[in-house]
Amino acid sequence: MHISPIRTEVFRCVKDSNMFAFTSLVILGMCCCTKANSEIFLDRPQLHIPSEVLVKQVVDFLCEYPNQHNQSVLLKLFKVGNRKDVMGEYTLPAEENFGIFPKLIRLSHEGYFECEASIQNNTEINATVSLIHYLRVIEPVTGATIVHSGPKEFFEGKDLEMQCNVTVGNHVSYKWLLNGRVISPSPFYQISENNLMIYRATSEASGSYVCVATNIFNETKVFISNSSDVLITVKALVSKPDISFAVLKEDYQNYSAIITCQSERGALPITFSLYNGTELLSNVTAKEKHATFKVPIILDQDLGLLQCHANNGDRTTYSHSLPLKVVQVGGPVTIDSKYDMAENYAVIGLKFYCKAAKGSHPRFQWFLNETLLKDRGSFYYVFDRLPTESILLLSVGRSSTGMYRCEVSDSFDNTTAISSRTHYLNKNVLNRLPVFVVAVVFGCFTFLILLVSSCCLFGLIFRPKQFEEKPLLILEMNKPIAPEELSINTEDPDELTAPREDEFYQESEASVDEWPELEQEFRKTLEDEEVEV
Ligand SMILES: *[C@@H]1O[C@H](CO)[C@@H](O)[C@H](O)[C@H]1NC(C)=O
Ligand SMILES: *[C@@H]1O[C@H](CO)[C@@H](O)[C@H](O)[C@H]1NC(C)=O
Ligand SMILES: *[C@@H]1O[C@H](CO)[C@@H](O)[C@H](O)[C@H]1NC(C)=O
Ligand SMILES: *[C@@H]1O[C@H](CO)[C@@H](O)[C@H](O)[C@H]1NC(C)=O
Ligand SMILES: *[C@@H]1O[C@H](CO)[C@@H](O)[C@H](O)[C@H]1NC(C)=O
Ligand SMILES: *[C@@H]1O[C@H](CO)[C@@H](O)[C@H](O)[C@H]1NC(C)=O
Ligand SMILES: *[C@@H]1O[C@H](CO)[C@@H](O)[C@H](O)[C@H]1NC(C)=O
Ligand SMILES: *[C@@H]1O[C@H](CO)[C@@H](O)[C@H](O)[C@H]1NC(C)=O
Ligand SMILES: *[C@@H]1O[C@H](CO)[C@@H](O)[C@H](O)[C@H]1NC(C)=O
Repeated sequence: MHISPIRTEVFRCVKDSNMFAFTSLVILGMCCCTKANSEIFLDRPQLHIPSEVLVKQVVDFLCEYPNQHNQSVLLKLFKVGNRKDVMGEYTLPAEENFGIFPKLIRLSHEGYFECEASIQNNTEINATVSLIHYLRVIEPVTGATIVHSGPKEFFEGKDLEMQCNVTVGNHVSYKWLLNGRVISPSPFYQISENNLMIYRATSEASGSYVCVATNIFNETKVFISNSSDVLITVKALVSKPDISFAVLKEDYQNYSAIITCQSERGALPITFSLYNGTELLSNVTAKEKHATFKVPIILDQDLGLLQCHANNGDRTTYSHSLPLKVVQVGGPVTIDSKYDMAENYAVIGLKFYCKAAKGSHPRFQWFLNETLLKDRGSFYYVFDRLPTESILLLSVGRSSTGMYRCEVSDSFDNTTAISSRTHYLNKNVLNRLPVFVVAVVFGCFTFLILLVSSCCLFGLIFRPKQFEEKPLLILEMNKPIAPEELSINTEDPDELTAPREDEFYQESEASVDEWPELEQEFRKTLEDEEVEV
């Protein structure tokens, strides 16, 4: 079927008109279309350009015109929104159907382009315009540098801000490296565009910073520019110092306090100053985190409150105030005791507490049969819980039998030792006591006589030690005993006098919660050794 050109134009006119004036336009269009000749209707041109180009390259912009009617048209190239500047013009001869616009690409070329087809010197006929196309221009990045105003060395807590600038390049993305490792954004490191911001820097922010600027062409070609490194040092503020002192005895009965000021952290050097109240006694700038001062002292006198001040440039920190008073050890030295009992009232453990009436720097020593007990052994454990009290933990058994005493001296002068009275410990004597109690309760008179006579016999044999046993005896008797507990025990009275080894073990577990951790550990070792005995 043949369709005349005129019919085709009519059809086009109808298609282009909007729905609102559909009917009227059909008629009007008929008149208009029939009046015009085929040359005055223009086809729509098509623009062909790459989406991405490198700057300074020559690129051909191609405007295609279907030219179905062999018209001679004028093709123009524009940037969208800028009709004043014609980027290129091309007069298309009747036989041709595309125009080429070669361009040397500049950065300013980036943007949307369109191509227009019109009849030269004829404004009556509407021009047609192509669809728009975006052109992205890439300029390879070079010359990255870090711009950082402010000191390269500063104290923690301050903000640090740096910028990465490039001499040329666009569509650049930035990466920051600290000591060769990429910094990922966090509340601590904030990265936006070419900016790196570190809020309240700590010493971890110290190191060598490098920025890497990158841009990519055609998703394949990557351009990289590294900056030279910038060295940043974030200095740690000095922490609150600790103050302590030791006493030193010198010749001619002269004494000194060796005062130590110590900070946990802080950039060096640190200046430590020692104050007596508000009076500066001494100061020193240390290349370590501690300093010592020597101050002559007189014993048993209040020598004021000492305080350490520490400063490493930005702020001063203060220790607590330490009263400087050294009291010599003075008697009497006393020993208290506490027992640990099994269910059958057998004494299985004992704690001796040693104390001196006065003395700020005491040193304790325990003796069994005049042999020094050091730290811990198979049946004992020495520990100084308070600075002014020493505890001796004992497992009551064959090996712990003997004469115990404690000696206290000044830690700075061991010629001043004062001894406590001697305490005698004997497992068998301790553990005979419950039998005695049970016997009284049940009025077992014969047994009582037996016991008394055995006590007398015992007393005869161990006459000098009787005095030592007595306090233990009283202690035991004063212990309140529930009647039902007693009745249980009487069921097997033989067990009371001589607890078997396995009972010792049982009890160890039953009363565990009454012992501090240390003692539990101690007891374990004791049990191990008990097996060997
Ligand atoms: C346009 O010109 C070509 C030759 O130049 C010719 O073959 C063709 O028929 C012409 N088309 C029309 C619609 O006149
Ligand atoms: C269009 O007009 C200009 C001057 O106004 C003239 O130089 C040119 O030759 C004309 N072109 C055509 C195709 O008529
Ligand atoms: C872009 O990359 C593709 C392959 O990924 C390649 O075929 C094309 O030629 C490249 N274009 C330019 C302008 O280099
Ligand atoms: C730039 O830094 C990258 C690491 O991000 C490295 O691989 C590359 O070698 C560096 N280039 C130069 C020139 O220093
Ligand atoms: C010890 O003290 C006396 C005065 O009490 C003094 O004369 C003497 O120089 C002091 N000795 C030392 C070594 O400090
Ligand atoms: C240390 O003490 C001296 C005087 O003894 C004083 O001149 C100096 O300023 C002090 N230094 C500091 C850091 O307090
Ligand atoms: C500290 O000052 C008091 C008086 O202000 C003085 O009695 C005392 O001896 C001083 N202590 C030291 C260690 O200098
Ligand atoms: C300590 O001496 C007593 C006798 O006085 C003795 O029975 C005991 O076995 C001795 N203990 C040790 C551990 O030597
Ligand atoms: C006292 O201590 C000194 C050194 O610390 C030591 O040589 C001496 O034997 C000790 N004297 C006594 C009685 O412990």
